[in-house]
Amino acid sequence: MRVVCKLLVLAEFLAVSTISLALSSPNDAYPTGCGDEVGACVGSSDDLRPLRREVYEYGQIFDITHQFNPNTPVGDSDEGIGQFLTLLSSMKNGSDYNFSELRLGVHAGTHVDAPGHMFADYYDAGFDVDSLDLRVLNGPALVVDVPRDKNLTADVMQSLHIPKGVKRVLFRTLNTDRRLMFKKAFDTSYVGFMKDGAQWLVDNTDIKLVGIDYLSVAAFDDLLPAHHVFLKSREIILVEGLKLDDIEAGIYTVHLILSSSKEALEIASNKKKCCKGDMF
Ligand SMILES: *[C@@H]1O[C@H](CO)[C@@H](O)[C@H](O)[C@H]1NC(C)=O
Ligand SMILES: *[C@@H]1O[C@H](CO)[C@@H](O)[C@H](O)[C@H]1NC(C)=O
Ligand SMILES: *[C@@H]1O[C@H](CO)[C@@H](O)[C@H](O)[C@H]1NC(C)=O
Repeated sequence: MRVVCKLLVLAEFLAVSTISLALSSPNDAYPTGCGDEVGACVGSSDDLRPLRREVYEYGQIFDITHQFNPNTPVGDSDEGIGQFLTLLSSMKNGSDYNFSELRLGVHAGTHVDAPGHMFADYYDAGFDVDSLDLRVLNGPALVVDVPRDKNLTADVMQSLHIPKGVKRVLFRTLNTDRRLMFKKAFDTSYVGFMKDGAQWLVDNTDIKLVGIDYLSVAAFDDLLPAHHVFLKSREIILVEGLKLDDIEAGIYTVHLILSSSKEALEIASNKKKCCKGDMF
């Protein structure tokens, strides 16, 4: 059986490495003009600007991660992540290269939660992000718009009529409309799963990847209970802080490529909408 379209979320490893590519035209996929010679890329053009894209192939591939910047929000902070990148060696200071160090809370920006995030025994036993199933992180996915006037309760979940067999769902909520991920102060009024909504999903669907558009899949009022319901089986992967701004509800293929840490990992992702795909 073929379905209409698929969404591909290709995740690249942290989008913070220093990039300065010379592009001869905005359409070029690869930089030009940078030879092996030291300094070959420096000052060779007045218009030396990297091309940053979030949509590729005329809307076939979308990056659905948030870029890190000092205002990127992180749970429990009004200040955002602050200075997360430090230049340790600089070409300006005579070094042969720029060398930066990254320091960042692992639940900042777009990331996934590992089972060990909220279960001490899972953490101690090593259920970190490295233990997550790559088959769950890649494959057909639904992007679903949810009612804007409620948190994700059992009633709301039931009303969405997500078919059995669907394994990956990204929930687009009021959080996207409110552009909460673009505000540096953590906002506890975000929309997320209530405990009964999480339980309904576990009991009545085959969903193994739950994505949402703010820093937590669980509503603040049910922060621990809803996380516990999701993470207990160690089978459900939670993807948080997704950028779903211009993404229409529909069927896609999602690709999440991750960098690992104990409880969470950062993702940078692309998603592709196209026209083949035969299973969830
Ligand atoms: C470059 O050198 C200046 C002067 O010694 C120093 O203040 C600055 O921190 C250095 N920066 C880097 C990135 O090395
Ligand atoms: C890398 O070095 C160049 C040349 O010294 C400097 O202008 C630039 O700001 C550095 N990159 C970063 C990320 O700071
Ligand atoms: C969702 O729950 C939060 C508390 O966790 C609350 O502040 C917010 O108003 C609720 N949102 C909606 C749309 O009901």
